Amino acid sequence: MKQLIDKLYQTSSLLPQEYKELIDNRNPEISEYLFEKARGVRIRNYGYDIYIRGLIEFTNYCRNDCYYCGIRKSNSSVERYRLSKEQILDCCKMGYDLGFRTFVLQGGEDGYYSDEKMVDIIRSIKKGYPMCAVTLSLGEKGYETYKAFYDAGADRYLLRHETANEEHYGRLHPSKMSLKNRKKCLYDLKEIGYQVGCGFMVGSPYQTTDCLVEDLQFIKELNPHMVGIGPFIPHHGTPFAGETAGTLELTLFLLGIIRLMLPQVLLPATTALGTIHTKGREMGVLAGANVVMPNLSPVDVRKKYLLYDNKICTGDEAAECRYCLQKRIEAIGCHISVSRGDHKSIL
Ligand code: 5AD
Ligand code: FES
Repeated sequence: MKQLIDKLYQTSSLLPQEYKELIDNRNPEISEYLFEKARGVRIRNYGYDIYIRGLIEFTNYCRNDCYYCGIRKSNSSVERYRLSKEQILDCCKMGYDLGFRTFVLQGGEDGYYSDEKMVDIIRSIKKGYPMCAVTLSLGEKGYETYKAFYDAGADRYLLRHETANEEHYGRLHPSKMSLKNRKKCLYDLKEIGYQVGCGFMVGSPYQTTDCLVEDLQFIKELNPHMVGIGPFIPHHGTPFAGETAGTLELTLFLLGIIRLMLPQVLLPATTALGTIHTKGREMGVLAGANVVMPNLSPVDVRKKYLLYDNKICTGDEAAECRYCLQKRIEAIGCHISVSRGDHKSIL
């Protein structure tokens, strides 16, 4: 097993059957060996800097019905909300004063925000905070729409592919969604010039090691700037309410693998990871992650943006999360960077 990790460390890739062997035969000793290497690669590329992104969850309306997601259209117990441009700008102001230099606008696929409305919001943020990066996470759109957002000033786009296996994709999503379109979106975004993030949930229902191997192969092929992974956590109001959550252990192992595959990737220790274990995000950083994404949304809407149960930080003000994370990051010997935190390939 150690030879496989050494090979991955040296060549940044493995054959499909080698990924499978590594994942299926992992154990605590191997994991620790992997994490040491992954930390080393992180430190070589980004030092002890951990980048912070201010997450603004600006709408929980969604036209989609993904089986795993708490804000899916069919979940009628969700109290829906939308933030106005002014409210979004207030979040940015607060975030800026707290040292955030990246704002992530995330929402369900909500038709209320027309291309014109989004362009106006993006332009307004870039006008007020020209030195900040704007990241969008708004789901699947057409090429022209992505282009319009990019021309308005958006820098980055997050769109998890969710699973790179066709059949698995079909078991997580209603039939009108397709992996093909998801991938097309990611390639469009890249072509337009965005820094792009893909990703998947660890331990989602029906996921096998073969699915994970396909995820890793797809990630290598896409070569994204960012990869977001976190454990699947069931939400009580979804068809997957009774399913088992993904594990901390496998999520950390995959973070380590991804750091070795893409040495310069921006890799968040996600909120979901912090939800399944109080020290999940710290352990994520120690396994190779280098980004944390605390919430900047107004506290009164936080509990309405629940993709999964028991989500952390839903009662905490932006400033509390900012300083809480700083303390946590410093406790493990790293520090929070007040910078845009672009991918190394960006000048
Ligand atoms: N558990 C964990 N992650 C989830 N996401 C959506 N629902 C869940 C869940 N139940 C993730 C998806 C999505 C991202 C915004 O949140 O991967 O892309
Ligand atoms: Fe939100 Fe710790 S990060 S309270």
